[in-house]
Amino acid sequence: MPSIRKRVAVAGAAAVALTTTIAMTTAHAVTPPRAGAAGSAAAPADPTYTAAEVLAGVKKNSTAANQVNTKPHINTMTRAMNVNVYQVASGVYAYTSSMAIDDDGSDPDPDPDHQGDTTWHDSNGKALAAHHVPFYVLGDDCWDRKTPCPHFFYKEHGMSGRQFALMFYNGKVIGSIFGDTQTANNQTTSDNDSRELGEASVKAAQLLGIPSSGTTGGVDNGVTVVMFSGPSWVVNGTNANLNANAQALVQKALDTLGAAMAGTNPPPSGTLFEAESGTLSAGGTFDSNHTGFTGTGFANPANAVGAYVDIPVTADTAGTRTLTFRYSDGTTAARPATISVNGTSHGTLNFPTTANWDTWANVSITVPLKAGANTIRIAGNSAVGDANIDSVTLSP
Ligand code: GCU
Repeated sequence: MPSIRKRVAVAGAAAVALTTTIAMTTAHAVTPPRAGAAGSAAAPADPTYTAAEVLAGVKKNSTAANQVNTKPHINTMTRAMNVNVYQVASGVYAYTSSMAIDDDGSDPDPDPDHQGDTTWHDSNGKALAAHHVPFYVLGDDCWDRKTPCPHFFYKEHGMSGRQFALMFYNGKVIGSIFGDTQTANNQTTSDNDSRELGEASVKAAQLLGIPSSGTTGGVDNGVTVVMFSGPSWVVNGTNANLNANAQALVQKALDTLGAAMAGTNPPPSGTLFEAESGTLSAGGTFDSNHTGFTGTGFANPANAVGAYVDIPVTADTAGTRTLTFRYSDGTTAARPATISVNGTSHGTLNFPTTANWDTWANVSITVPLKAGANTIRIAGNSAVGDANIDSVTLSP
């Protein structure tokens, strides 16, 4: 639990060395997804996103329509009830608030309110070290005792201890983990409250250039925390390497979120074959009238039951491969298709809707391939035929 303290930001605190932050000032254009040449063994390079680009997307998606909480949260420093949480992409949640300084955990600290434990621990079961691990603080329960919670409550959103977040402040971005919680609302002796948002560890403050004293540090506003839910975004490690492990995820998080917000969702690593290298059943066309495709265009099979695109692929050796189809379906209904390899059906694969025809998504199926040339057929199961098909990527 965070300590009780007078939360007054002090201007002009000593500058702190910033060695692990990524400067946001080196912005460059978003690189569109790039394809390797058809059949090239090289994995297509993923587009890279800068912190400035991603933060701009987070702000753009922080709309009333995307707001998760129905009652406002409390800014930990100013106590203003004006903090909201937005789902800025599938499974990604963002808020902007203060940074009060949490100095709890296994590091010693002169703050008279310092507490030895943190809610979450490192992978060895030790209390987190606030001077070594950048961590953020969320409410430890639902203040209203209601389900769903009118506030953002992490347990309702696939989050647990050490959940990764990007933290943006004043032109910088760092990786951080969910480390501690705000005291429950039954603690009447404290102004801590599980509706509060806006507290993080000494280390997080240092990395972002915020005064980091537990008694006099912090900043009143402008810290944006972007939390990535799901087990694959839980950061493991000890107090000695959790900081490095969190920073190592920053570019991956920027790229994942940047691609998701742009609706570009690049193809995965593997050997990529463009749909436009294939052949279409009657009435289909290879088009380029929607944006975001790789290569020179995409397949638009006819709107008819059984309409297909055949994509030639090669495999070095015989064996099973995961085929990932990058596709777009800008309608309101999914377009399931039968996937066949060399004339043998391997069942139906669903192609769920995407936001529009310029938005791309990936779906996968595992099939056996023979060594050398193979033909992958995607044949629409309904009268509207296939989704638009951009490419298929083979991975082991
Ligand atoms: C639209 C869209 C095409 C798409 C078609 C369809 O015309 O522009 O790219 O293939 O709908 O419904 O299949």
